[in-house]
Amino acid sequence: MATDNSRFQAIISHCKEYGFVFPSSEIYDGLSAVYDYGQWGSELKKNIRDHWWNTMTRMYENIVGIDAAIFMHPTVWKASGHVDNFSDPMIDNKDSKKRYRVDHLIEGFADELEKNGDAQRGQSLIADMDRLLAASDYDGIRQLIVDNKIKCSVSGTVNWSDVRQFNLMFSTQLGSISEEASEIYLRPETAQGIFVNFLNVQKTGRMKIPFGIAQTGKAFRNEIVARQFIFRMREFEQMEMQFFIRPGTQMQWYEYWKAERMKWHRGLGIPESKFRFHDHTKLAHYADAACDIEYEFPIGFKEVEGIHSRTDFDLRSHQEYSRKKMLYFDTELNQNYIPYVIETSIGLDRSFMMLLSEAYAEEDLSSGDKKDSRTVLRLPASLAPVKLAILPLVKKDGLPEIAREIMNTCKPFFRCFYEEKDTIGKRYRRMDAIGSPFCVTVDYQTKEDSTVTIRHRDSMSQERIPVSAIRTLVEKHISSTAGL
Ligand code: GAP
Repeated sequence: MATDNSRFQAIISHCKEYGFVFPSSEIYDGLSAVYDYGQWGSELKKNIRDHWWNTMTRMYENIVGIDAAIFMHPTVWKASGHVDNFSDPMIDNKDSKKRYRVDHLIEGFADELEKNGDAQRGQSLIADMDRLLAASDYDGIRQLIVDNKIKCSVSGTVNWSDVRQFNLMFSTQLGSISEEASEIYLRPETAQGIFVNFLNVQKTGRMKIPFGIAQTGKAFRNEIVARQFIFRMREFEQMEMQFFIRPGTQMQWYEYWKAERMKWHRGLGIPESKFRFHDHTKLAHYADAACDIEYEFPIGFKEVEGIHSRTDFDLRSHQEYSRKKMLYFDTELNQNYIPYVIETSIGLDRSFMMLLSEAYAEEDLSSGDKKDSRTVLRLPASLAPVKLAILPLVKKDGLPEIAREIMNTCKPFFRCFYEEKDTIGKRYRRMDAIGSPFCVTVDYQTKEDSTVTIRHRDSMSQERIPVSAIRTLVEKHISSTAGL
């Protein structure tokens, strides 16, 4: 059984081998920190996205969804503070020329200390780093790195530059002739598409506070230290919701959304012990409170979702830059105000990685002298890329025709997969590896009494059921794991 880092590496290999995730442009040796989702990965990703969307826009009657463009007016990013503030403190090693985000460099060193039995020093180092970062004391951060003799992993030296800020936004040109073209940005978060549409949605949807606007979509960040597979990418997908509220009620709604979002994560069938909240000590320029929901990945607890109390920073700033009023008239209070906002912001790719980390299992099935094993993805049926595999026992005697009929009956309702190549055992293993919760086998008895063997992925138990009962059984199981 793979453990920790080797388990993480095993999941990455599994993703590649079974069509979940491929390095981008692989035939050209890939593009750093950019990935493509394959045939099963894109299905799983879509199912997670749909699940989030359905939770947000159906289960909360006061939340609606939008789909804003990736390109936005450049002033949006001035108003949001991203042009001036969306940067990470970085340090260069002068010998290797390798650039590090200072928090990653220090955290990596603290992890090493912990592994070597000096957890106390590691914790005090992190506490010092948090204090210095909160005070934007970059000279102090550099001194901390030097005093602790933190080395570059490439050169092995401590020859460090000053700490500098690097903006993470990608820019491009809008317009065809370079002199006339204006510089625009690829959005680094989807949230601003919601803020600039606040009045459009509020007015056309006759929305009353408190209400939310949700959207999913791509975001782009020029991550300097892009690493850990799809965990930190340069192009990724977010699922964000801005919840507009009365000023002064933000702490109550912040706590409400913390609890609601944790409930959503637990609804994926993941135990409570695998999650924790991490409160931010250094708040982003827009927030008066913020925390992360962290999941325990094989490589340790890492952020999956952020919950931020964003005050009225964004709407007020857009009002100032656009000179358009961002006021809401509260009929109950008979008063105009700029709403405050609680944001929930979850990474789709990190949710994907979280679900895979939870689902991936290597099982030893040996009995006596007979060696056997399987790799299985124990995904919730509602999220699994394929719900039902339909397998004729042999490629002859009319069995494929019956299997095809079952396929045609079920495929309009959920994702099915038909396969007749290889032994049944090998086909079961392949379906386990992509997490298909059910396989039905069409055999000679099917010809006689119209029953099939249905195999349950997790228990590997098999039962005989009528062909006419397949669809209901699978649908019942999907809806029981839908978490809504
Ligand atoms: N609108 C607020 C916002 O963007 P964030 O904490 O920067 O907040 C929210 O990002 C979520 O987006 C994170 O919790 C993470 O899941 C995901 N995310 C951020 N940067 C990412 C990256 N480079 N690669 C993959 N996911 C990322």
